Amino acid sequence: ALDLLRGANLYLVGMMGAGKSTLGQVMAAKLGYRFCDTDTVIEQAAQQPIPEIFASSGEAEFRALESQVLSQLSPYTRMVIATGGGIVLNQENWWHLRQGVVAWIDVPVEELVRRLQGDASRPLLQRPDWQAHLAQLLSDRQSLYAQADIHLTVAAGEPTEAICDRLVERL
Ligand code: S3P
Repeated sequence: ALDLLRGANLYLVGMMGAGKSTLGQVMAAKLGYRFCDTDTVIEQAAQQPIPEIFASSGEAEFRALESQVLSQLSPYTRMVIATGGGIVLNQENWWHLRQGVVAWIDVPVEELVRRLQGDASRPLLQRPDWQAHLAQLLSDRQSLYAQADIHLTVAAGEPTEAICDRLVERL
């Protein structure tokens, strides 16, 4: 294990609700890496929560901030970086992601729906047909997530520790 990583950053990609931030923190502790979450860095830089950034500046501006944060993080090493679900959309982001190891945390859509029920922090899901929209986003992005180095399929209810151990084995 760890042949793949060799001190490089580990990027966690995948849908909203996949557990990238939770898993990332545990992974960082296990690897002796630092942890960082692109959404959190964006919120700190913009001094606004993500729903407000979307409302006041729009998704395009959010995506620009996201790319900027990613490029600012990529010179660092030995970091676990939990990314926003849409990071894979911009092909230029892949240039940065490719500097590290990219793991797709793939959780069944029914489980994502269960976890995201009543969630107000994801602006893309604030609509009556959010469940169908979530499934649509996943199908639109599937081939992009599949560009990750590692495809980690997670079962509903699998404990973080177990997911973490399986991911470490793949590094
Ligand atoms: C988004 C996912 C969110 C956040 C923003 C957009 C997306 O991050 O970046 O709401 O397009 O999938 P999480 O994946 O951490 O929820």
